[in-house]
Amino acid sequence: MSKALLSRVDERVLADVVVIGSGVAGLRAALGLAPRSVHLITRGSLGRGGSSRLAQGGVAAAIGKDDSSGQHAVDTLAAADGLAEPAVVDLLTRAGPEEIRRLEALGVRFDREPGGSYSLAREGAHSRARVLHCGGDRSGAELVRALVERVAGEASIARFEAAEALELVVCQGRIVGVLSRHADERLVLHGARAVVLATGGLGHLFAHTTNAPESTGEGLAMAALAGALVADVEFVQFHPTALAVGVDPMPLITEALRGAGATLIDTAGNSVMSALHPAGDLAPRDIVARAIWSRRQRGEEVFLDAREVMKSGGVERFPTVYRLCRDHDLDPSSQPIPVLPAAHYHMGGVWTDAHGRASTPGLWACGEVACTGAHGANRLASNSLLEALVFGGGVAADIDTALQTAAGPFRTGLMASVGETTQTRRPLGVRQARKIAAELRHRMWTDLGLVREAAGLGRALAWSEEWLEKGVDGALRRQLTVMRLVAKAALFRQESRGGHFRQDYPQSDFQAGRRFGLTVVGNREAVPPIEIGFLGEEKPVAALAGSRESTP
Ligand code: SIN
Repeated sequence: MSKALLSRVDERVLADVVVIGSGVAGLRAALGLAPRSVHLITRGSLGRGGSSRLAQGGVAAAIGKDDSSGQHAVDTLAAADGLAEPAVVDLLTRAGPEEIRRLEALGVRFDREPGGSYSLAREGAHSRARVLHCGGDRSGAELVRALVERVAGEASIARFEAAEALELVVCQGRIVGVLSRHADERLVLHGARAVVLATGGLGHLFAHTTNAPESTGEGLAMAALAGALVADVEFVQFHPTALAVGVDPMPLITEALRGAGATLIDTAGNSVMSALHPAGDLAPRDIVARAIWSRRQRGEEVFLDAREVMKSGGVERFPTVYRLCRDHDLDPSSQPIPVLPAAHYHMGGVWTDAHGRASTPGLWACGEVACTGAHGANRLASNSLLEALVFGGGVAADIDTALQTAAGPFRTGLMASVGETTQTRRPLGVRQARKIAAELRHRMWTDLGLVREAAGLGRALAWSEEWLEKGVDGALRRQLTVMRLVAKAALFRQESRGGHFRQDYPQSDFQAGRRFGLTVVGNREAVPPIEIGFLGEEKPVAALAGSRESTP
C-alpha cells in the first residue's frame, strides 16, 4: 500500500481473524473461529448476496446404503479428469456424512422420503444417488439461512456489511490485514493475525453466467497481487442448462432435473445427448455444455424437456425452477424450456494446502476462491457446497491451532505495513470503467469461454495487459488481473481437459496434464511479471514458481 493511500485511511481496527465473504465457506469459517474475535467483511448484506444462496444443487455426501466415501472419491476423481489431488478428495468425501450431521445440528432441514430416509438425488457423473437437497431446489438458501442465524448470534463475530475489501496488507512477506471501503465510504484497515478469503468465484466476469454479480474474482486478484500462488485458474466450469431468456445473471436450471428424467432436445424433439455419450443427459458437465454450445454455433436451439418430471411431482420438488420459468412466461409442465451454457464455477483459485493455507503466511482461503485440488479440471456436481463446508471448518481449525502456537506481532506489522504493496493508480471515470468492465465480460465469454484457441487467448491476454498498462485502478484492475491470469494459464495449457477445451489442442495430453501455478512477481509495475511453475507433489510452495513462459 502506498504512503498516499495509507494517509487516507480513516480508521484502523484489529481482530484475531478477518474473514472476507459471507457465502457458505465464509460463514462456516467465521462460526468455527468463535469465540475468537472475527471481522466478517461482506459486499452485500449478510445472507443476501453471493452464489451460495443461489445454489439449487445440494450437498453430495456418501450417505446412501449402496454408497461409500470411496465410491464418492472415485466419481470425484473421474470427473476431475486426472488433475485432482487424491488425498484432498479422500479428505473431502470422507467428511461428507459427518458434515451432514453437523448441519442438521445447526438446524438445516434436508429433504426426506415419506419413510424418513434422506431423499438422495443423482446428478451428472455421479454413479450413485447421493445429493441431499433442502426444500427441493432451495439448498443453498437453506444452508445460508441456518449459518447466518448462528453467525448473527455470535457476539465475537463483528459484521461489516456493504463493505468492499480492496487489498490485502502485506508486511515483510506476511498478510497482516485487509484494507476495505465501508458502507459510509470510509477506508478502514482491518489488522489481523490471519486473513481468510472466502470471496467466491469469477463467473460474473463472463457475459453469460449463473453467478451473482459479486462473483468477479476479487479475492483471487487480491491474493495474486499480494504474491500468493494461484493454481488451475484455466479451469472454468460451464453449466449446460441456464435458462435462455436474456437476463443477467442467467437463472440456473438444476441438473437434478436431468437426474429426475428431464432430457435435452433439439427443435425437432430429438435427443441431443443420447448419441454423444454413454451417460447421455448425465454425461460430465463439460461434455454436455459443449454439445449445446456446438448446436448453438450451428444456429440451432436446445431445450430441456422437463414436462414429464414436472407433471409427476416436479413442481413441488423443483419450486425454484418452476417459479423462475413462470416469471418468464414459460410453463415447464407443458413446454420444453430454452437453455444455454453459462459460466458457473471456477475450479482454480488461490492455491491452498489441505488445511486451506495459502502460500503466503497469514493467508487462508476456502470455498470457490480456493484451489484445494479437490476438483481438478472439472468439479463433480454438488461437491462445491460440501467443499465450502469441509474446508471452511478446516481453515477455522487450522487458524485456531496456528494462533495458539504463534505469538502475534501483528500490531507492529500493521502499523509498519507501508510501501510493500500497490501504488495508487489512475482512477477512471465511472462511465468509462463500466464500459471497459462490460467489454471485459464480452471478451471473457468469446475468447476464454467454452471453446478456446491460441488466437483468442492471445487477444484476451494482450487486451487485459493494454488496460493494465494504462494504470487503471480499483475493481477494474483486479478484474483485468484475473482475466490476465486465466488467459496466461489457458495459453500455457496446450491440451484439452475438463473445463478447459482448446480447439487447437483437442486431445488430453498425459505429459501436459500436470497442475501448475502462477505467481505475480512484485506489485509495483502496472503489468507485473507472472511466473509459472508445475506443482510438485512434495516440493514446498516456494520452490514451485520456476519461470516457464512458453510451451509446456
Ligand atoms: C445444479 O443444480 O445443477 C448445480 C449444482 C452444482 O453446480 O453443483
